[in-house]
Amino acid sequence: LFAGPVDFLKGVVAMSGLPAADRAEVCFAGRSNVGKSSLINALTGRKAIARASNTPGRTQEINFFTLGESHYLVDLPGYGFANAPLPKVEAWQRLLKQYLSGRPNLRRAFVLIDARHGIKAVDEEIMSLLDSSAVTFQCVLTKADKLKAGEREKVLDQVRGKLVKHPAAFPELVLTSSEKGEGIATLRAIVATLE
Ligand code: GTP
Ligand code: MG
Repeated sequence: LFAGPVDFLKGVVAMSGLPAADRAEVCFAGRSNVGKSSLINALTGRKAIARASNTPGRTQEINFFTLGESHYLVDLPGYGFANAPLPKVEAWQRLLKQYLSGRPNLRRAFVLIDARHGIKAVDEEIMSLLDSSAVTFQCVLTKADKLKAGEREKVLDQVRGKLVKHPAAFPELVLTSSEKGEGIATLRAIVATLE
């Protein structure tokens, strides 16, 4: 699937702007700065098809990418702290929640968790929203390259412990580094199974 062409389709700021729900879709959600856009770049093998930056709140629209002819990859604005004006942040948070609870072709939401920090209260809020909307979600731990030896099992245990309470959680975790490439092939293979 990832051997085919990848293109930026559009950035959306309102539900009315969403493309037709005519392809399988997966999205990448997570706190601001967790590494959503970087992960899309790593998965697609394109350095900057999604705009990444060190400023939390970089992605402010719902960005759609076409993957071959069968899938959409969706880069979402972050939740939690963002370096942007409050009314703007509130508007994109509202849109994010509407999207996550109302997209019929959404096959799975990947919820990204910074491997150094584990699951926070804001992550659980989003997970509860996904539970109530019956959207299967899977946690992807990011920035694994920043972990010290011995910290891996600790964060994996914390995440596993929290996911038990979430009926929509897919139990398999993926530990990734967009910087070093760890876990990227695994995640590509998972997306390819979601038809
Ligand atoms: P928003 O769009 O603001 O919500 O952020 P985002 O989740 O899209 O994060 P983004 O991909 O823009 O990355 C945020 C910062 O983390 C950037 O400085 C990236 O270079 C860095 N980063 C992302 N992935 C990794 C990784 O695997 N390892 C390391 N060390 N840094 C990473
Ligand atoms: Mg982003």
